[in-house]
Amino acid sequence: MFSGRKILVGVTGGIAAYKAAEVVSRLRKLNAEVHVAMTKSATEFITPLTLRSLSANPVYVDMFEEPKHWNVEHIALAQHIDAVIIAPATANILAKMTIGLADDFLSTVLLATRAPIFVAPAMNEAMYLHPATQANLTQLRERGIKLIGPSTGFQACGTEGVGRMSEAAEILETLSLFFSRVEGLKGKKVLVTAGGTQEPLDPVRYLGNRSSGRMGYAIAQVLQEAGAETILVSAPADLPTPQGVTRIAVQTALEMYDAVLERFSEVDVVIKAAAVADYRPAVLAEQKIKKDGTNLTLELVPNPDILAELGRQKTSQILIGFAAETENLMANAQGKMLRKNVNLLVANDVTKQGAGFGSPTNIVSFLFPDGRRIDFPQMSKLEVARNLVHEIANLLGVNKGVN
Ligand code: CTP
Repeated sequence: MFSGRKILVGVTGGIAAYKAAEVVSRLRKLNAEVHVAMTKSATEFITPLTLRSLSANPVYVDMFEEPKHWNVEHIALAQHIDAVIIAPATANILAKMTIGLADDFLSTVLLATRAPIFVAPAMNEAMYLHPATQANLTQLRERGIKLIGPSTGFQACGTEGVGRMSEAAEILETLSLFFSRVEGLKGKKVLVTAGGTQEPLDPVRYLGNRSSGRMGYAIAQVLQEAGAETILVSAPADLPTPQGVTRIAVQTALEMYDAVLERFSEVDVVIKAAAVADYRPAVLAEQKIKKDGTNLTLELVPNPDILAELGRQKTSQILIGFAAETENLMANAQGKMLRKNVNLLVANDVTKQGAGFGSPTNIVSFLFPDGRRIDFPQMSKLEVARNLVHEIANLLGVNKGVN
């Protein structure tokens, strides 16, 4: 995955700077061409000599030192690299990136490069949670900069909290997923549904489910990265819209039904990752329902099955369904695949540890109508998304760009 990839590791001045040595060392062992740019303050925590030895390349710190090559170095490097990972990324570099400040070698390269940028923030919890840092991160994310971590745990200042830099292994996994992404869905239009629908009972209550939306959002992100024009029809989910994805917000199953059916004829693929409520309250109370000390019986009426309807209407579209089960996984999933006329069904047992609602990971099987089945081990939802998009590219007959 990394062989021949030209990666710039940016190191800024935080105590986690020592972990940059492991990132550089691992990348090099995986045959990446590693370059390192450090801020002045990073050199207080770890020496350029260490990183020079591990990367086997000169380390850039100063804008105005004697050049190592004949060319304008920050521009040449900016154009040469395939990706940048800033680890650790301090609150200061995040703020500089947000406003486009270029006052040293690293920040100048960051402004000059068009390569994808990953940041692994590392700072004290109060600094991380400060509205200024959070606003900067939101803006950077919207600009397409990819965040890795931070994680929660022991901090150098002696407290527990969020702001620890992700471990080198996690950083490498994210980079490796990025480099293994499916390409070649350019010109395809896809629609993904995500989240759990909410069925209102009265002005303050609704019937909902435990879906976080993570799986669907990850799929939308990967599809967009693969070049597809991506529409995300999302029930309420507390997640940022992946960059470049068009998000259509819905609340109820009926709203989702309309939003999806309206666009069905113009898309090549629909992925129904949403957890759609099968029933809604028969009446929506205009005022808040008051308790009177006796039992309350709610009458529920069935919602339309969106996926089944798409299965009936489909012409050339590829349809992907999900089956969240708590028992008889394969038999139930098999039944759903045939009933809903899908090209691929993603089955998961939501009672398993590390799978299903709310979890950052999932354990899934892909089922195909021709009887084929692929069982995957536990993996991050982003990884499941990449495997799924790989299969979608196969189903569309465009899987040439996988590298
Ligand atoms: N689905 C849908 N519309 C519904 C219910 C489900 O489009 N009203 C879709 C889901 O998005 C998912 C698939 O159908 O892709 C299976 O959803 P799931 O909840 O597992 O199955 P159900 O069909 O609801 O069956 P059951 O509740 O009996 O398990």
